Amino acid sequence: MTKIKGATVLVTGGASGIGRLMGSMCMTDGAKQLILWDINKGKLEKTTRELRAMHFIVHPFEVDVADSSQVISTARQVITELGEIDILINNAGIITGNMDFKDFTHADVDKTMAVNSNALMHVTLEFLPGMVKRGSGHIVNISSAAGMLSNPGMSVYCASKWAVSGWSESLRLELERARSGVHVTTVNPSFIDTGMFSGVKSIFLLPLLKPEVLAGRVVRAIKLNRLFVRAPFMVKILPFAKGILPVRVFDMIVGRWLGVYQAMSGFKGHGGEAGKLVSW
Ligand SMILES: NC(=O)c1ccc[n+]([C@@H]2O[C@H](COP(=O)([O-])OP(=O)(O)OC[C@H]3O[C@@H](n4cnc5c(N)ncnc54)[C@H](O)[C@@H]3O)[C@@H](O)[C@H]2O)c1
Repeated sequence: MTKIKGATVLVTGGASGIGRLMGSMCMTDGAKQLILWDINKGKLEKTTRELRAMHFIVHPFEVDVADSSQVISTARQVITELGEIDILINNAGIITGNMDFKDFTHADVDKTMAVNSNALMHVTLEFLPGMVKRGSGHIVNISSAAGMLSNPGMSVYCASKWAVSGWSESLRLELERARSGVHVTTVNPSFIDTGMFSGVKSIFLLPLLKPEVLAGRVVRAIKLNRLFVRAPFMVKILPFAKGILPVRVFDMIVGRWLGVYQAMSGFKGHGGEAGKLVSW
């Protein structure tokens, strides 16, 4: 069991969406202080104001997690000024979507991989030594159902989230092998109603998840040291279905009949721009 009461919690991308919710839920459960990292100054200020009005101790930091030098300097500032982190939630993420891979630029690829994959490793490298030294801590890595299932129109996002799933599980195995006392939870949700994927088609077996419900499940997973949060139920059975079905049969049933491969066709994201559709 990981104790949230009295803990110092850091959430990347904590100014909005599920990041904001997970942070505030940890504070409601008695965490000592909440450290929010986000690139969006306006949202960071608004969220900090609102959470402080609820009498929570909140420390906002404007950080671009895609920039490893900013990650390193801000992490060291946090440790010096506020102490070590007990619960780290690697949540910041972006998508350039509803676009075939041939239409991506090199800059799109670099940015997506930097925010969605590399940043989690750079941030963890800074806070993990303190956790290992104290023999306790919990790291949550937000991947996606797209980290277990390939999907047209989101190839680079899929690549970035598969990287998270593979790294996060390897990290868990290493920390268990070392009997470190540090726990890892990997989170693979399907579409969540935060606006990041606005316009996507809600599918019978993959209904749009409510942000509060998903955030609540992650916080419960932290308390219970659960290895995974996979939601909705369809995501739990994905590895089994992929394992037993021939690829063409899987493509037909999951991709075409259930409509998963068409899910991105109405995608607008936060930007809703015509042409290149981005969500950051
Ligand atoms: N919304 C979904 O359908 C969905 C589904 C599966 C997984 N996820 C994942 O959940 C996480 C949270 O998504 P959300 O739906 O709450 O989205 P969101 O857009 O509401 O929140 C993402 C936050 O990350 C911040 N951010 C983006 N780039 C950053 C950077 N370079 N440095 C620091 N902060 C940055 C944004 O400002 C924002 O506050 C993401 O990793 C996302 O990939 C979302």
